[in-house]
Amino acid sequence: MPDSVVVTDDGGVRIVRMDRPEKKNALTQPMYAAMTQALREADASAAVRCVMIAGSPGAFCAGADIGEFLEAAQSGGLRPMTLEFLHALARNQKPLVAAVGGIAVGIGTTMLLHCDHVVAATGAVFSTPFTKLGLIPEAASSLLAPMRMGHARAFALLVMGRPLSADEAKHAGIVNTVVDAAAVDDLALQAAREIAALPAGAIAVARKLMRGHLDDVVKRIDTEATAFKERLQSDEARAAFTAFLARKK
Ligand code: COA
Repeated sequence: MPDSVVVTDDGGVRIVRMDRPEKKNALTQPMYAAMTQALREADASAAVRCVMIAGSPGAFCAGADIGEFLEAAQSGGLRPMTLEFLHALARNQKPLVAAVGGIAVGIGTTMLLHCDHVVAATGAVFSTPFTKLGLIPEAASSLLAPMRMGHARAFALLVMGRPLSADEAKHAGIVNTVVDAAAVDDLALQAAREIAALPAGAIAVARKLMRGHLDDVVKRIDTEATAFKERLQSDEARAAFTAFLARKK
């Protein structure tokens, strides 16, 4: 397990914390692998009744590591651990709570569409600048976001790359509760404990019924992944990655 993902069990709650604050929790392939393992172990363990995904103060996740995007672009577009993670996230059977303490970019936002309960900081910003990077939406967001918030709002988010504030994300149905940044983790943990204390059998059946279109979701993840891989190798994408990595602050 890399240091940049910290997994702890708190009673029936497994906490999976992205912990690469110096890079705003941008996700690398080892981080995706660690998160996949944590989710799969949680699924296999009767002791784990709920999983909470968290980040660092001010940064939930800045999306995939753009340096790795560039490497993948140069070596055929493969990002095997990302696909494994997306499958684990979609197929995961334990309820998922997210604690979003700050920015949530790309997969930092799209993974929330797979979560069951989301607590966000008042200053959190949700954005998916896929097309600005020459890319396309992933994590089945092209299916789930229009279902969640309607086509018009999903288009503005996913295709136009317009960010959502925490309140807008709440109105769009991505976020349950907006609180002060300092209270995000505690409130999310409280919700996770509340879920963990409910009868696990009933929770599992209810959740499965509510996510009845799982096969469509997994199929969409794969269809998007094929297009994403092609886009990664496009001139548009390479130019955008190079510009980000060379930018002067
Ligand atoms: N991949 C690689 N490195 C990233 C990153 C990413 N997705 N996001 C942030 N970082 C790095 C920055 O390059 C910087 O590294 P440095 O200190 O070595 O220069 C460090 O994390 C801190 O980021 P910084 O840009 O200084 O923080 P900020 O608060 O000003 O801005 C973001 C935060 C997330 C808005 C900005 O970093 C950003 O736009 N990142 C890219 C997000 C993105 O496009 N992700 C892919 C989505 S598909």
